[in-house]
Amino acid sequence: MKKNNKNHSDSEIKSVSFDDMEMEYLDMHDDSDFENRIVAPEYNPEDADTENPLRPQTLDSYIGQDTVKQNLSVYISAALARHESLDHCLLYGPPGLGKTTLAGIIAHEMGVGLRITSGPAIERPGDLAALLSSLNPGDVLFIDEIHRLSRTVEEILYPAMEDFAIDIITGKGQGAMSYHLPLPKFTLVGATTRAGQLSAPLRDRFGVVLRLELYTTEQLADIVERSAGILGIAIDREGALELASRSRGTPRIANRLLRRVRDFAQVVGNGVITCDIARMALDRQEIDELGLDKIDRLLLSGIIKFYNGGPVGLETIAAAIGEEAVTIEDVYEPYLMQIGFLARTPRGRCVTNAAYLHLGLKPPAQADVPEQQSLFD
Ligand code: ADE
Repeated sequence: MKKNNKNHSDSEIKSVSFDDMEMEYLDMHDDSDFENRIVAPEYNPEDADTENPLRPQTLDSYIGQDTVKQNLSVYISAALARHESLDHCLLYGPPGLGKTTLAGIIAHEMGVGLRITSGPAIERPGDLAALLSSLNPGDVLFIDEIHRLSRTVEEILYPAMEDFAIDIITGKGQGAMSYHLPLPKFTLVGATTRAGQLSAPLRDRFGVVLRLELYTTEQLADIVERSAGILGIAIDREGALELASRSRGTPRIANRLLRRVRDFAQVVGNGVITCDIARMALDRQEIDELGLDKIDRLLLSGIIKFYNGGPVGLETIAAAIGEEAVTIEDVYEPYLMQIGFLARTPRGRCVTNAAYLHLGLKPPAQADVPEQQSLFD
């Protein structure tokens, strides 16, 4: 295959017009593919019934994330011994890895209450003031998607986190009054998929910063077995491993797949999820051995087809598949990069040889590496 060395950078987006071939490619999937995506790591309200009873309540029953667990366990023991509340914690990493679950565990281990909200849900400074003043001493306040707080709300949070007090101004001009409102001590647990988007003043106010990583297949198989036990689903180790290996390192996906595969075991098999049942059920849903679905394969084959495998800018890919750039960065890319199918280079994203082979395509020849040629120009 002749590789075109042109770099399709984001600055070219406006000049990239979809030709007929690209439009045909886009028509191959519609929005419902994104919405119903079984391997999407983001929270879906349909997950609530399964996720809530499965959430471990203690650090001991939380599988994986060993470094996070070891550090948290020290901080929690020390805070308990000093009869203090835990420092504010920032949890970051891809969606679906258990950030909300960890906030619940922190509250449980500290023996305090938990309040859950999210950045976009706190619209005005008054909403946050009301929330903060309704906390009980020591409570954990969990703010999901904390990078989406507005600047005005964030400014209320600074003194609340630092001094456990907020200053409220009422009225205008000469009639303006300022009140200093002391708050109960609390622990803020913030979660984000995009640590880089947090403002420096907010980031600096977290005493504990913890990064969650994608899970290994073995860890996911342990999670699947634990969940199956709680839900009364019969599964053998090979079945759990097969399910885990197609779950993209993400417990939320593993638990969702478990629910779907259970139906197959019941109707097609004898009720037990074996390797064969898991394989057949997931093949039928077009989730391949590595957990890639139709959209992942479209993303990779689109870069190969229209941009010769890259490098291509993120915004260009986003326009081509009709998704937002941040979604591609947060949702699709982490796993494709983890399995070595997509590489992030200074000139844009590149599909790797491993991805070509996985898609049954011949990787491009190694010969035309532009940097080397230019040495002899
Ligand atoms: N369910 C979801 N995530 C889990 C985890 N890390 N450990 C145990 N059960 C889980």
